[in-house]
Amino acid sequence: MPPEKKATLLVKNIGQLVTMAGPVPRIGPHMKDLGLIENGGVAVSVDEIIGVGPSDEVEGKADLAEGCTVINAGGAVVTPGLIDPHTHPVFARTREQEFEMRIEGKTYMEIAQAGGGIRSSVRHLREASREQLMEGTARRLDRLLRHGVTTIEAKSGYGLSTESEIKMLEIIRDLNEAHPMDLVPTFLGAHEVPDEYRDRPEEYEELIIREMIPAVVEKGLAEYSDIFCEKGVFEIESSRRIQSAAKQAGLGLRFHADELAWIGGAELAAELGAVTADHLVYISEAGTKAMANAGTVAVMLPGTTFSLAGSQYAPARRMIDEGVVVALSTDCNPGSSCTESLPFMVSLAALGMKMTAAEALSAVTVNAAVSIGRAGRIGQLQPGMQADLVIWDMKDYRELPYHYAVNLAVKVIKRGKPVTDGKGAGNVP
Ligand code: NIG
Ligand code: FE
Repeated sequence: MPPEKKATLLVKNIGQLVTMAGPVPRIGPHMKDLGLIENGGVAVSVDEIIGVGPSDEVEGKADLAEGCTVINAGGAVVTPGLIDPHTHPVFARTREQEFEMRIEGKTYMEIAQAGGGIRSSVRHLREASREQLMEGTARRLDRLLRHGVTTIEAKSGYGLSTESEIKMLEIIRDLNEAHPMDLVPTFLGAHEVPDEYRDRPEEYEELIIREMIPAVVEKGLAEYSDIFCEKGVFEIESSRRIQSAAKQAGLGLRFHADELAWIGGAELAAELGAVTADHLVYISEAGTKAMANAGTVAVMLPGTTFSLAGSQYAPARRMIDEGVVVALSTDCNPGSSCTESLPFMVSLAALGMKMTAAEALSAVTVNAAVSIGRAGRIGQLQPGMQADLVIWDMKDYRELPYHYAVNLAVKVIKRGKPVTDGKGAGNVP
């Protein structure tokens, strides 16, 4: 432990300490390797981890600062703070009426083509004030944090005009400052063709390429560019043009790909060197191989299959076997997956995609960190890394998928500070 650094937080008597020490990213059989320490401890100085190991050893070596917070975990499980690498958290209204329409037999695409879906969220977002959006988004960040999520990737995509896309990205920037959650911003101007461009979609593409991307890059508001690459939305050639322009402007690439039908989105993502391709329910064999070769991370979103009442989940097993880097996310959004529970996605990953608890934990920590360009800083509990960790009300990490649809994250520690009250409900500021 660095002698000049005093511990301001010590967590001891951790029954199972999931450090995720080991290879980055976790591929194939390595996804099962949790870097588990039985009866472990973690020492933190301000916002940085300074000691990880057996509880007695960490406690013995730590030089405690005055007023150091000591938490006795009482044999509980501790993991790194979870990372959610695909969210749409900025929106003005929920869309429960569409959920009900789906229950009554309409499909997601039918609702979208009739003017609902993303376009209805766009109409509402454009009318909403900044304050209203900040407040609604902050409540969702609170909920994510209470479920053990300490970093998210956050997309725009409900503005679809230069002005309102920038408004969304500024909200993401401001909440990154004001809220304990860390947010990694993604520009998603190519989420849908807005109402005013329905009869001239090529002009909307031009607007994205000539005006939106340069404006977003010039203001430094996004790290990534994403696109809804899907039949009837942005098809392959449009996606190639838009994402090539984004790449040239210096943005990393992410894709919504092969979600509702196969059109070759995974192949295109790999070809353009995308950082991630997400959804992938209908990915082809060739797309899987291309992603493995390109090192493009597959972000699995099983909440979407669940909430769209689908029966087909993405073929995660095949991707893991073929050497694709696999991460897992909520897709938190008002249309296809309205949830802030990443732990519930771990349950769905188990039941729908046959991923074990250890594989899913790799997918929401170290692999998720890789997918947002934060490997080495978060997603593992290692000296020198950011002190984001979660104490769970469980004795065995395999309870995470098994004990489902309740919140077992009892204490969430963000940058070295407890941000929930330890009762699983929370007092996030
Ligand atoms: O990831 N598929 C496109 N985008 C979102 C849904 C957005 C919405 O319906 O509002 C998704 O599923
Ligand atoms: Fe999405």
